[in-house]
Amino acid sequence: MDERIIAGEEQVEDAAVELSLRPARLNQYIGQQTVKDNLAIFIQAAKMRNEPLDHVLLYGPPGLGKTTLAGIIANEMNVQFRSTSGPAIERAGDLAAILSSLEPGDVLFIDEIHRIPRSVEEILYPAMEDFFLDIVVGTGPSARSVRIDLPPFTLVGATTRAGLLSAPLRDRFGVLSRLEFYETKDLCTIIERTAQIFDTTITAQAAEEVACRSRGTPRIANRLLKRIRDISQVKGEEEISLETTREALDMLQVDRSGLDSIDHKLLMAIIEGFGGGPAGLDTIAASIGEESQTIEEVYEPYLLQIGFLQRTPRGRVATAKAYEHFGLQKNGD
Ligand SMILES: Nc1ncnc2c1ncn2[C@@H]1O[C@H](COP(=O)(O)OP(=O)(O)OP(=O)(O)O)[C@@H](O)[C@H]1O
Ligand SMILES: [Mg+2]
Repeated sequence: MDERIIAGEEQVEDAAVELSLRPARLNQYIGQQTVKDNLAIFIQAAKMRNEPLDHVLLYGPPGLGKTTLAGIIANEMNVQFRSTSGPAIERAGDLAAILSSLEPGDVLFIDEIHRIPRSVEEILYPAMEDFFLDIVVGTGPSARSVRIDLPPFTLVGATTRAGLLSAPLRDRFGVLSRLEFYETKDLCTIIERTAQIFDTTITAQAAEEVACRSRGTPRIANRLLKRIRDISQVKGEEEISLETTREALDMLQVDRSGLDSIDHKLLMAIIEGFGGGPAGLDTIAASIGEESQTIEEVYEPYLLQIGFLQRTPRGRVATAKAYEHFGLQKNGD
């Protein structure tokens, strides 16, 4: 499958621009007001006490700004930012090496923390709670446990799948922050900021058009804007116009609700093939030739979020809102 332009996950083309687009300070981080307010208080309190910040768990769908926020926490605390990821920590020794190289107060960011192996997770507990490691050295009868003291540090964990985190690990975070999809007005601000960094400007209407089609996700908004900017530049525009924006987004086949051809295929399969549902996940999967798991984890979340799709005990249902989107009328509603 080709990469979808409206996927929240990071793509190769994003990496180069994201570095320059990441806000570095809390007051540059747009939206997510509750999360920001909470963090600001915790950060201020920790600084007043001269203590490291409590461990923070950031969770939510891809592309909403978890990694960005982790970096901001380190900046606001004036400490070093060290970064790794769950899958990169294969053995207890890997984690021990990272932890023992930290300076007091440092932020250790573990991305995709739900993917750390269980054996590593267990040595993380005392590290988080009391800042020491219990490492077993040697094997068989000569094996012994060695205690290593650690500098106090802040663990910032990020995950798109909070449900996969074990309860003991989740309980060791003092701050749990759930990132939400962004409102259109916040996405507009992000788009205008990105345009500025791209050294261009965009009209307010055009920014709103991009925002509406970005699935509440800054990463998607920035990716779309980059493509639109290219087209606008080729056309010799001084400012990115609404007309060019619509033209570019139509060309990219991102519709006015941020849906692409795969979303259309899925919804139309339920509407036309099953009278709007309910239809079982496996039946739908077979009818469009996709894996059930892909449908459930990749295609459905946004459609559920915007209320185009419902999960019922008897299967998936296309809502009246979905019908309306295609200019159709749902019987019986
Ligand atoms: N609140 C925000 N204000 C401005 N820009 C933002 C904000 N949140 C995210 N962004 C932009 O979106 C991009 C993606 O954010 P980020 O990489 O932090 O997402 P993520 O939640 O870590 O995604 P993933 O789950 O894939 O790791 C960043 O490069 C940044 O430019
Ligand atoms: Mg990230």
